[in-house]
Parts: sequence; C-alpha cells; structure tokens
Amino acid sequence: TGYVTLDRGYKNTGATKSAITFLDGEEGILRYRGYSIEELASKASFLEVAYLLIYGELPTKEQFTQFESAIRSHTMVNEDMRKIFDGFPVNAHPMCVLASLVSAMSGFYPESYEGNGDENLDIVRLMAKLPTIATWSYKRSQGHPLNYPKNKLGYIENFLQMMFALPVEDYTVDPVVAEALNILLILHADHEQNCSTSTVRLVGSSQANLYASISAGISALWGPLHGGANQEVIEMLEEIKAGGGDVAKYVDMAKNAKTTGFRLFGFGHRVYKNFDPRAKIIKKAADDVLSKLGVNDPVLEIAKGLEEAALNDEYFVSRKLYPNVDFYSGIIYRALGIPTNMFTVMFAIGRLPGWIAQWKEMRETKEPIGRPRQIYTGSTLREFVPMENR
Ligand code: CMC
Repeated sequence: TGYVTLDRGYKNTGATKSAITFLDGEEGILRYRGYSIEELASKASFLEVAYLLIYGELPTKEQFTQFESAIRSHTMVNEDMRKIFDGFPVNAHPMCVLASLVSAMSGFYPESYEGNGDENLDIVRLMAKLPTIATWSYKRSQGHPLNYPKNKLGYIENFLQMMFALPVEDYTVDPVVAEALNILLILHADHEQNCSTSTVRLVGSSQANLYASISAGISALWGPLHGGANQEVIEMLEEIKAGGGDVAKYVDMAKNAKTTGFRLFGFGHRVYKNFDPRAKIIKKAADDVLSKLGVNDPVLEIAKGLEEAALNDEYFVSRKLYPNVDFYSGIIYRALGIPTNMFTVMFAIGRLPGWIAQWKEMRETKEPIGRPRQIYTGSTLREFVPMENR
C-alpha cells in the first residue's frame, strides 16, 4: 500500500493550491485576493469582500448592485423551515440550530443535489438566509416574535433589525454598531485552510452539495479550539472578574496546561507566530466602539491585563502564543448587544463567503476526493471466537 507520511493535525501538509487568501504567519500578513486585511476592513463593505472572495475581483458598481439585490430578494426562509426550528428545545445552542437548518436547506432546494441546480443561486440563498436563520434562535430565547427581513435594508442593517427590533417600537440602526459589525465580519471572512474550511472542502470533495458542505463547516467551527473560542474567552474573562480579577492565577493555570488541562482561550494560533493581524485591528476597534457607544465593560480591562501578563511570561513567549482573532471580538459583540452564545454564529456569518469561495474553487480546479491515509496500529490477523467461547 506504499509509504505513508504521518502528519497529525496536518501541521505541515498542504492540502491544496489556492488563489484566495494569502497568509504569512511569521510576518502577521493576511490578504484576500491580494488586498490587505487592514485596507479591506477600513474601506470595504462586507458584501463587497464577499464578492471579492467568491468571484476573485472587487465588483464593479453594476456587479455589486446585481449581487446585493439578488441577496436582498432571497432573505426570506421557507416557512416550513420554521417547523423544523420549532422542534428544537428553546435552549438549544444556536450553532446546532444553524448547522441543522443549513443542512435542511438542501431538502428545500433538491436541485442542489440532483445536479441541475444553479450554483450562483445556491450562493445567493446561503448568503441571504444565514442571517435570517441566525436571528431566530436569539429571538426565541427572548420569548420575542421572530422578525421577518426587510429588504429595504442593507445586509448588516437587516441582520440588526431581525435581532433587535420589536413590533411594539421603532428601531433604527446605530451606525456605530453597523460599522463595527462590518469590520468584524470582514476580518472573519476567510482564513485559508483552517479546520472549518478544510471540512467544507473535504465534504465538498465527495461532490456533496453546497448546503451540506457549509453545514459541516458550521459544525467544525463550533468547537472551542476553533470558532467556539470566542464564547469561551468571554466566559473565561467573566470567571476571572467574578474571582476578583486575578489574571496571574489564570496565566499560571495555562502554563501548566499539561496537568490542569486549561488553556487560555483566544491565545495561540497554528499559523501566526508573531501576532494575529486580525487581533491587532480588533483590539483597537474594541477601544473605539466601546468609547463611541459609551459602554464601560470591566472585562476589557481584564482582557488587557491578561494579555499583558501572558506576554510577559516565558511560557507564552517561548511558544509564540499571542492573542488571536477571538480574544477581543467577544468584547465588541457584547457591546453591540449580542449575547455570548451567539458569538460563534457571528463568526459563521462572517466566514460564510470564505467557505463558499473555497468550495467553489475546489470544484473549479477539479480537486480529487479528499482521503487521508493512516498508519495502522491495531491487532494483526486473529481468528474469530464464537460468542459462547469469549
Ligand atoms: N494556552 C496555553 N498553552 C497553549 C495555548 C493556550 N491557549 N495554545 C497553545 N499552547 C501550548 C501547547 O500546550 C503547546 O505546548 P508544548 O509545546 O509545551 O506542548 C504549544 O503551546 C503549542 O500548541 P499546540 O496545541 O501544539 O498548537 P496548535 O497549533 O496545535 O494549536 C490552537 C493551535 C489555536 C488550537 C491552540 O493555540 C489553542 O488551543 N488555543 C486556544 C483556543 C483558541 O483560542 N482557538 C482559536 C484559534 S484562532 C481562530 C479560530 O480558529 O477560531
């Protein structure tokens, strides 16, 4: 069966060639299709970046209008999906609801797996409906009626309206909130072959449909070592606050990760070994947004203290462990009024265009089915023993 190289966790295995995202972990560089993340986050809109990732170029005015209006006109979700949603317990985690309902979408659009579908339409449907589905969990957890999308609103404004508007009062979108969300979604939009993206590619490599592939990506993202870290960070910071703010104790616990099993959530990255450029932008944005909104969140000070304590510690320095994208993002989400258990859902809304772009590229370059090898460590051949003799 030939020679197999073992690389647990694929730390040094390239799975594909890709023209989408450039990442230099030593220098802390991240670019989408050649454009720096710093420039995109300050100048572009999330949908513009989505178009760039998916179709390879920044859209012209006309292309953008077409893309945006297609998305606007597909924001409603089939009412029968509500029945599936209603079957979930009220306290089901929003990530499990999201993965399930996205998986269910292929059932509503069977052409996606029957092979006679329109790929661009599937892309539009996913982009359009993910925010709608995402807000359902939150609304129900509050005992509020679900809000329908309003197509006169832009992508981010519509999401905020569905999350926060109540039928009994007027709702206007705070531009500070919309702008902060725009930056966060852009920063999350792609990150080359991370765990969830590799999952989307692997599932898609068997030629499973786009909805099924994205649903698998959402499930991969949920894990606490990946996107789920943003929820874990805030829970950790809250715990530190409740215990009197002793950051040194948590640094000590993390240093002994081998025995305590405790890691500093939001710290460390497989690829970034100097700093995570996204974390740099988000840290600054956290200061800006909180001061503009007049929010005083003591957890921000705890986060800064924890970062400082860790970065002055030999354990973290020698292992090149720095705050990652998830370290400060939760503090912003909180200031925007988004509850903790929705943080990873926000990550998923941001990452969706990246997953789609990678799935599309994989199909276009006709990647073979993903099928890693193994080194077998089990028993050698042995003879079957009938049950009565065991
Ligand atoms: N706290 C304490 N020790 C850590 C941490 C941490 N957060 N991260 C890594 N280490 C240690 C680890 O114990 C190991 O030590 P040693 O060399 O003594 O065995 C060393 O640093 C290298 O870690 P690794 O686990 O081999 O590195 P990895 O590339 O497999 O893992 C990671 C990367 C992000 C999963 C990991 O750093 C981690 O678990 N971080 C906490 C979870 C987190 O914040 N995840 C979000 C990642 S960024 C965005 C995203 O994907 O969502």
